[in-house]
Amino acid sequence: MDALELLEYRGYDSAGIALRDEESGKTEVRKCAGRVSDLRAICMSEKVVSQCGIGHTRWATHGGVNDCNAHPHQVGKVTLVHNGIIENYRELIADYDLADTLKSETDSEVVAALLNRFYEGNPGEAIKKTVSKLKGTFALVILFEDQKDVIYSTRNVSPIVATICKEGAMLASDLTALCRFTNRYFVVPEYHILKLSADKLTLTDFDGNEVLPKYLTVDWELNSAGKNGYPFYMEKEIMEQPEAIENTIKNRIVGGMPDFTADGVPDTLFTECEHICIVACGTAMHAGLVAQALVKSILHMHIEVQMASEFMYSDPVIDEKTLVIAVSQSGETIDTLEAVKYAKNRGAKCLAIINVKGSSIARESDYVLYTNAGPEIAVASTKAYTTQLAVFYLIVARMAHSRGVFDDAQTQSFVRELQRTPEVMKKVLERRRDIHVVAKKVLGAKDLFMIGRGLDYSILLEGSLKLKEVSYIHSEAYASGELKHGPIALITQDTPVVATVTQEKLMSKELSNIKEVKSRGADVVVFIKESIVGDLAKEYEIFTLPDMQDEFMVLPASVALQLLAYYVSSDKGFDVDKPRNLAKVVTVE
Ligand code: G6P
Repeated sequence: MDALELLEYRGYDSAGIALRDEESGKTEVRKCAGRVSDLRAICMSEKVVSQCGIGHTRWATHGGVNDCNAHPHQVGKVTLVHNGIIENYRELIADYDLADTLKSETDSEVVAALLNRFYEGNPGEAIKKTVSKLKGTFALVILFEDQKDVIYSTRNVSPIVATICKEGAMLASDLTALCRFTNRYFVVPEYHILKLSADKLTLTDFDGNEVLPKYLTVDWELNSAGKNGYPFYMEKEIMEQPEAIENTIKNRIVGGMPDFTADGVPDTLFTECEHICIVACGTAMHAGLVAQALVKSILHMHIEVQMASEFMYSDPVIDEKTLVIAVSQSGETIDTLEAVKYAKNRGAKCLAIINVKGSSIARESDYVLYTNAGPEIAVASTKAYTTQLAVFYLIVARMAHSRGVFDDAQTQSFVRELQRTPEVMKKVLERRRDIHVVAKKVLGAKDLFMIGRGLDYSILLEGSLKLKEVSYIHSEAYASGELKHGPIALITQDTPVVATVTQEKLMSKELSNIKEVKSRGADVVVFIKESIVGDLAKEYEIFTLPDMQDEFMVLPASVALQLLAYYVSSDKGFDVDKPRNLAKVVTVE
């Protein structure tokens, strides 16, 4: 149950558990719409003694949120949980005449029904036959009623990691649930069968050959997935950023120069490409937008950022001369994974920036730079974003040096500025109470605009996403200059505006745009670089951001915007870590 709670960030509209009752030998299912805490309450009142069980938290795809659609699903001798989407579930219902056996509206229950249909006492055969009929993505974890204390699992695309340690054999959809027990785990390969009993774990391919698991070691601290005294993971993760940045950059700076030797990333990757394409989703995509601005201004190279979900359908211009950079905290976002596969098929080289070791995108890519942010649990991404930015700064520096754009001294000076980041971020964090005060100004807003130019606009896209994710305020980021071409029609005294002013060369234009919204009645909050603040405090609610060179100001500014979103959400009494309808890891297209 504790492990399920740790996995709740992947989906939290329903929860369920199936346990093999020691006494009766029957598989008991408890499930409900709602949180794991609701499930826990049910389990406390209807106890089962067991040493073998499976559990699930759901993010609904097929079928509404209700008790019946919650997993596990039980049909005859089969009880299972499923992640992914079975695309041909309607055809399967028709072809195998399963309609009468189904109680829920889910695609997952169809798999249970099919397994039960094919099961004649040999789990491996039933699994293989069932899997051969499925189209789509799946991670399946299965109990067969007459297989005492054994759990079976198989998968395609959707992830499963497993381990065996002194507490027993266990598996999960990701590492977070296992890392309190052990730091050794392996990724279950696709189209294999994993069999777990209390003291044994066997992996076989579909031809029945035993396969030795390839164990990986994670260096996350075993208790680093806890809240550590903070009311929410989001706050804890915001506060961890100086350390996370430090951990991300420290081993990649040698003699003052960016160095990816230990990561096995060769300079030829940077020198032989003619253009760059960044693919990612959500916050990771926003990190890509900052990188895009840096690459253009420093490297003068052709670069585009693509939402991974649009990438494959947009006829992307990708070839052997393209460096594709995939960015993902989880390394499991299916759109990003599919984009990487597509790009590789076109001959592009893929470099991934990933937080979770051994994840699917990391395995699929040619090269990986891990962000070392540690586990990120809150659905709204914070430390993953800023560590992704840190990796991008290193890439830009290394690339500029290897392509002859920067000499040694320029490269070292760029890297030195990056090394200041943890200290500068700490200064923002120390003044978080001031941001809390600012947050109170926008608490009552229904709609809000965030405006900025250049790099400021890129980070406001992320700042605005953060605010809408956790506070449910409709927030839109707009390039300040574009505001007058439409959205200014929406500015009234009821639409507060948040502006960032961190780019000295754009400052005067930005200040004019701020005036334009102020004269339409908007309350304006300005996050501004300390050295350029002047006497602005007389006119506006301001928060000063500690100085860095302009290219780096996105780092302190992002922390400030994260805190803004956090305080608005917590002041409104929301469940900050689990905003409605969202999931942290999106493994469906
Ligand atoms: C989900 C999460 C976002 C995240 C996005 C991409 O939508 O809620 O916080 O930015 O997926 O996730 P990834 O793991 O690929 O970075």
